[in-house]
Amino acid sequence: MKRIGLLTSGGDCQALNAAMRGVVKSILHGSDDVEIYGFLEGYKGLIYGNYKMLSSSDFSGILTKGGTILGSSRTPFKLMREPDENGLDKVEAMKHNYYKLNLDCLVILGGNGTHKTANLLRTEGLNVVTLPKTIDNDLWGTDMTFGFQSAVNIATDAIDCIHTTAASHGRVFIVEVMGHKVGWLTLNAGMAGGADIILIPEIPYDIKKVVKAIETRHKRGSRFTILAVAEGAISKEDAALSKKELKKKQEKRVYPSVSYQVAAEIQERSGLDVRVTVPGHTQRGGSPCPYDRVFASRLGSEAGKLIMKGEYGFMVGYKNREIVKVPLEDVAGKLKYVSPDATIIKEAKMLGISFGD
Ligand code: F6P
Repeated sequence: MKRIGLLTSGGDCQALNAAMRGVVKSILHGSDDVEIYGFLEGYKGLIYGNYKMLSSSDFSGILTKGGTILGSSRTPFKLMREPDENGLDKVEAMKHNYYKLNLDCLVILGGNGTHKTANLLRTEGLNVVTLPKTIDNDLWGTDMTFGFQSAVNIATDAIDCIHTTAASHGRVFIVEVMGHKVGWLTLNAGMAGGADIILIPEIPYDIKKVVKAIETRHKRGSRFTILAVAEGAISKEDAALSKKELKKKQEKRVYPSVSYQVAAEIQERSGLDVRVTVPGHTQRGGSPCPYDRVFASRLGSEAGKLIMKGEYGFMVGYKNREIVKVPLEDVAGKLKYVSPDATIIKEAKMLGISFGD
């Protein structure tokens, strides 16, 4: 008999259900002697012992379903070692529930923060296998995370829609794409949507160069310009500040996000009409795209294989077109950034895309 605990933690994304279905289907394919415990709302469910027993029928019909059948929540890693409002030690509580249910392992689906806690649980002696989810595609140790391609599709659709109206009115449009720390989503959606300017956190921008790029386009006869701007895009000036100085400056910021600030600066310097569109959480919503359905199913299936073999302490990732197992201690606490020297950036620049640098 195998007893498996499942949980989805952090911001949701498409294909979480497809991945869990993959895990469970592959395990049940090998044995009927399995119990599945689904912890509700991420680590919270494991901490407070909120779970439901799941059977194969719970995983039927969910391949195409967005969100997560288990619910999710953010439990910041830095608070894991701090007792809750009733003095409960969260790590001890998770261990207690794991042992109380006599689990063989936990299957944890999540992003960067989730992986830090998963690794902590591993160091505390629990058997853990993880799967890489996030629309940001910023997890170290895997070339791809599920959710990313679906979000690229949605953000690209948003840019496509903006393109036609921007062209009609001869306006400058900013589409703000998710990603506070990394720019994979903005870079890919920006290129796919034919954005003229792409601003990402890894390449701080100079507003003078951004305006110059717009004016050059207009001089060459284009009546409109599209910018894809990441939530975490940062000016060269702000990137030079210390963390503390930046935080102080941001606290005084009058704009709801960086895109509105960039819009105001462009408008002031160029006199052009600028509009901002924020697709926001639509980028995490709806059905997974076919790529993510297949990808998440493959990862889930490989995770099932590891569990059946009793191999724990790994994230199932994707490297050089192969599904691989990556030790959790290597993944935890690291982000996969876009390198400003990456070939894709050079290629984008060759296409005439400005990064404002
Ligand atoms: O990590 C995924 C992500 O969607 C980021 O791209 C975004 O910045 C953040 O989560 C939004 O978080 P929340 O859903 O908590 O507002």
